[in-house]
Amino acid sequence: MLTAYDRLKSTLIAAPKTFLITGCAGFIGSNLLEQLLLLGQNVVGLDNFATGKQANLDEVRTLVSEQQWQRFRFIQGDIRNPEECAQACQGVDYVLHQAALGSVPRSIADPATSTCSNVNGTLNMLIAARDAKVRRVVYASSSSVYGDHPALPKVEDQIGAPLSPYAVTKYVNELHASQFARHYGLESIGLRYFNVFGPRQDPDGPYAAVIPKWVAAMIAGEQVIINGTGETSRDFCFINNVVQANLLAATGDNQEAANQVYNVAVNANTNLNDLFELLRSRLVRSYNHLDTFSPVYKEFRQGDVMHSQASIHKAMSLLGYSPTHTIEQGLDIALEWYEKSCNKNLA
Ligand SMILES: NC(=O)c1ccc[n+]([C@@H]2O[C@H](COP(=O)([O-])OP(=O)(O)OC[C@H]3O[C@@H](n4cnc5c(N)ncnc54)[C@H](O)[C@@H]3O)[C@@H](O)[C@H]2O)c1
Repeated sequence: MLTAYDRLKSTLIAAPKTFLITGCAGFIGSNLLEQLLLLGQNVVGLDNFATGKQANLDEVRTLVSEQQWQRFRFIQGDIRNPEECAQACQGVDYVLHQAALGSVPRSIADPATSTCSNVNGTLNMLIAARDAKVRRVVYASSSSVYGDHPALPKVEDQIGAPLSPYAVTKYVNELHASQFARHYGLESIGLRYFNVFGPRQDPDGPYAAVIPKWVAAMIAGEQVIINGTGETSRDFCFINNVVQANLLAATGDNQEAANQVYNVAVNANTNLNDLFELLRSRLVRSYNHLDTFSPVYKEFRQGDVMHSQASIHKAMSLLGYSPTHTIEQGLDIALEWYEKSCNKNLA
């Protein structure tokens, strides 16, 4: 049977639209770019390369046809600059707003820079999208919005006090988006991503996410650090599920779904000890040194939540979201990519 996503893809292929992806040189943005170009859509990309890379765009170019690539226009610009946001929104049907400075520890180390990019930048994008009369803005929110609320699984209307400046920025984005619906009729959908992983997620630097960081360390035979006892758990979500949620949220025709926020995850939970073993047991096939490899345990990290697992009922019922990849299926694809990219760097 055809899923809502299958139907949506056929509709887009039959009548291509124009999408703006902010943060399109980053991990999630470049995966959205790849899928939209493969579907024959027109795409405008906006990025200032704060954490994104030209190499991500170059890789997408190798994965699509030349004709599809010609439908992409890149603007090197900054969402903190209102004129650049306005320029990027011209002639656009849908905005997929991903640009932000991610990472809880980064926001604790430098709250001003994270706030400026994530709050002012998103406000600029909402203004630009409103003025350009785009059909809908889909923006990246985060599971961090749940803060200290103890309920599991997380349901969209029960949030606690935020535990980091980053979480505050994402919650303010949701509040601003609801004001733009109320006062200007700008349609939006916020997607609260839960620990996304997949190809092109950056393994380097102090703010890298756990999966790419551990994979890089394991391949190099370097220390893998677990903050806490390893019982901390997360709802790890493969990138293809996130791409699906974005396209359904942007172009879905259920009017009831607009102006709301949705969890994007798989409704599973994996603790860090289990994650370590999932990665080690796969990588040991190519890297013998992982045969007897153990993590090093350090203190629990400030600002982190102990457990996180999403209810995805709302996204399933209102958006037609249906995750296609479990953590295991996603890891098989992601690890193949990391191994290839590691060999490329060594060559
Ligand atoms: N990866 C996750 O697990 C996760 C979880 C929750 C939320 N998110 C959110 O998803 C979005 C994408 O995250 P990602 O993992 O792809 O991160 P990423 O760092 O790979 O991508 C972010 C992109 O935004 C760009 N950017 C940052 N500041 C900018 C600015 N001022 N102007 C223009 N471009 C700017 C960066 O250069 C980068 O290309 C972010 O909003 C992030 O907060 C991600």
